[in-house]
Amino acid sequence: MSLVTSKQLLLDAQKGGYAVGAFNVENMEMVMAVVKAAEQMKAPVILQTTPSTIKYAGISMYYANVKAAAEQAEVPVALHLDHGSSFALAMQALRTGYTSIMIDGSKEAFEDNIALSKRVVDACGASGIPVEAELGKVGGKEDDLECNDPGYTDPEDAVRFVEETGIDSLAVAIGTAHGIYKGEPKLDLERLSEIRGKVSIPLVLHGASGVPDETVRECIRRGICKVNFATELRIAYSDGVKEYLKENPDAFDPKKYGMKGMEHVTELVCEKIKLCGSDGKA
Ligand code: 13P
Repeated sequence: MSLVTSKQLLLDAQKGGYAVGAFNVENMEMVMAVVKAAEQMKAPVILQTTPSTIKYAGISMYYANVKAAAEQAEVPVALHLDHGSSFALAMQALRTGYTSIMIDGSKEAFEDNIALSKRVVDACGASGIPVEAELGKVGGKEDDLECNDPGYTDPEDAVRFVEETGIDSLAVAIGTAHGIYKGEPKLDLERLSEIRGKVSIPLVLHGASGVPDETVRECIRRGICKVNFATELRIAYSDGVKEYLKENPDAFDPKKYGMKGMEHVTELVCEKIKLCGSDGKA
């Protein structure tokens, strides 16, 4: 089917008490592997790209790849701009055909984050493309995005932020971080429940790689409707390729090791879809 927006996917998840998995893809193989997993699990799915991924191959390359994969699939697929770093990039994604957009103004002062997010909401509104924004700062490092000064989302600020921006979903900072965790992450689950109690739109969990399964499930029980996974997919793909090349050091056909990378990603994404409870929801 054609690409769908993330709007209804997240509202359905919120109503059904599950989350939609949002998976960062870096190349054609990862796109194919994620969509294959969603098909196997009969799950709605979101594929997403960060600004540095877009820099790698160009935005229209990812759009073309994901659009083609979605058209061959029977499950709904949305293409999301992850951590849109500027108004200009958000507009580029909108014009290209992305069906879901994140504007990340979390590094800005509160009022500036509101102004930037609202500007993107106003621009996307005419095309019916939903917007995610972030309040508080998710820590850690992902590609070029680095935050050494994480800050939790304030529930009262969240109410004002959602009202004044008109966003469709809110990424919350509750103690997760992008990338690999050094120890076990300690999440502020009470804060999540408090935000959920005050804000009615779908909530998004960033930095889910390495968060224990039971903690992810608890976040979903407490109102998370979209869970972002990036680092674990990159590791899975690379492990598959390395494994193949170790066993076949003379291999030179990218299809051979690409296939192994894809197998690892599909297996991981199937597990994450189950964890999110979105299997069978397509
Ligand atoms: P991880 O790399 O920790 O999975 O984070 C993914 C993410 O939040 C993308 O926005």
